[in-house]
Amino acid sequence: MNIVCFEIEDWESDTLRPLCRNLDITMTSDNLDQDNADKYADTRIISCFIYSNLRQPVLEKFKNLKLIATRSTGTDHIDLDYCRQRGIAVCNVPAYGEHTVAEHVFALLLALSRHIPQAAQRTREGDFSFKGLCGFDLYGKIMGIIGTGTIGLHAARIAKGFGMNVLGYDTQPHQNADLTYVTFEQLLSQSDIISLHVPGTPKTRHMLSEKEFSIMKDGVIIINTARGPVIDVRALLRALQSGKVRAAGLDVLPEEPAIREEAELLRESFSQKHDLETLLADYALLHNKNVIVTPHSAFYTKEALDKILHTTSENIMAFLRGAPQNIVG
Ligand code: NAI
Repeated sequence: MNIVCFEIEDWESDTLRPLCRNLDITMTSDNLDQDNADKYADTRIISCFIYSNLRQPVLEKFKNLKLIATRSTGTDHIDLDYCRQRGIAVCNVPAYGEHTVAEHVFALLLALSRHIPQAAQRTREGDFSFKGLCGFDLYGKIMGIIGTGTIGLHAARIAKGFGMNVLGYDTQPHQNADLTYVTFEQLLSQSDIISLHVPGTPKTRHMLSEKEFSIMKDGVIIINTARGPVIDVRALLRALQSGKVRAAGLDVLPEEPAIREEAELLRESFSQKHDLETLLADYALLHNKNVIVTPHSAFYTKEALDKILHTTSENIMAFLRGAPQNIVG
């Protein structure tokens, strides 16, 4: 059965190949997209990360496709409805990054609370004054976790370690979570820091928008390592301008794939009808002094990548044995 792994770096290929020994497997650093889909149209198993195009117009070209093994937890980049109709199985890596992503939440939060990027830039320039760098303690603050799944619960544990009080909101609360569950509105109005950990779905799109920002505390901090569209970035920009939101740490942006392809930005924008207003809001956020943006790198540690590659190879092997695992939707 032929397998194509897209978005693979050389070292990942070196790790994955021995794990999938004896399989007919092609590795490429390319994303799967409209332009190269025909070249791989015979493929039976696709493995990808989140920047490949796995929407119906591309998937239609793959007449023999049996499995998509995404090397991510989130599956919002895949047209799951179409896969269901076509009987294409989709499996993911359900847990690899709970520590990894939760640690990144605090990397962003501490960078904001202690002005780390500005402080480091200042000393690099030979300036050792701390004027204007006054930060704030995390100790004693209220952290609101939206989505108390694997990552959210780990972020809550870390927050407790800092001596924070932790509130949680989830449509399916956890039995033994070490936090206080409240309503969505209570979380928004009581938290000093709000961190998002829900999946990217139509229901979570713009979960934080104008109305939600309006009921938050003045000077709230927003951290998003979940998915870009969960926040209405135009509303976030306005909340930053008014001071309602003091600062934001964002590992994800709504028009992230287009931003990543900066060299192709204009072509992409016009040919694929990206939401230009949202794209501009993304750019405005990138240049806002109270915002730190990381390039969707919250998952990107050695330990997490090893786990991703091992689980992906197990997912493919299990599917080939007729005992699929980590099937989504
Ligand atoms: P999970 O599935 O364990 O937890 C998600 C939680 O959100 C669940 O408890 C679920 O009940 C809750 N939820 C779903 N819809 C909701 C809604 N409308 N309102 C309130 N709660 C809702 O997922 P996990 O592993 O904690 O990951 C969370 C998200 O983090 C992923 O879906 C992915 O989008 C993102 N992620 C980001 C990474 C990065 O590098 N930035 C890496 C890995 C995941």
